[in-house]
Amino acid sequence: MRVTAVYPGTFDPMTVGHIDVARRASSMFDDLIVAVAASTTKSPFFSLEERVDMATTILSDLDNVTVQSFGGLLVDYASEVGSKVIVRGLRAISDFEYEVQIAGVNRHLAPNIETVFIAAAQEYTFLSSSIVREIARLQGDVSEFVHPEVVESFARRHHRAIHEGYA
Ligand code: COA
Repeated sequence: MRVTAVYPGTFDPMTVGHIDVARRASSMFDDLIVAVAASTTKSPFFSLEERVDMATTILSDLDNVTVQSFGGLLVDYASEVGSKVIVRGLRAISDFEYEVQIAGVNRHLAPNIETVFIAAAQEYTFLSSSIVREIARLQGDVSEFVHPEVVESFARRHHRAIHEGYA
């Protein structure tokens, strides 16, 4: 039986930390669906379509990985796609409390779905999508933290902002 895992997130944008988790998860499971959250309490900088397109390009070399968007409850989405495994990356001990709480809620909602934690790469434990967005907003170099596709997306956004007169 093939085991499909779901790696959910806002991915606004996907960072090298996320890529590392996705790569490692893809080697652990038969199939991995990177699930980009549509409706989130965050107000994403990149549109859902942009986030899905970027992640699709970034992970295109991984044969068993697909990228999809989802709305509603994560456990409902996982059931819909036939997955019993949710993958989350843990960067630091500070992530732990929150992640264990969410894993507990999800287990309560769907006892047949397990959350698996992957320790994020040590050298990027400080990294988050909002840090990357802040550096990019202030015209800093984010190329060490994201795939070139994301660097280009930020540049496109910046040029558009200049063109429309609000940068
Ligand atoms: N490398 C770098 N950054 C990482 C990382 C890694 N390995 N792992 C996590 N992060 C960052 C993320 O980029 C994000 O950064 P930001 O806050 O600066 O944008 C942060 O750590 C984690 O944010 P969080 O909100 O915990 O997770 P998320 O945005 O990645 O995804 C969902 C959250 C979408 C999975 C979750 O909200 C969800 O499941 N929503 C659907 C509704 C639902 O079912 N809720 C659960 C029941 S209440």
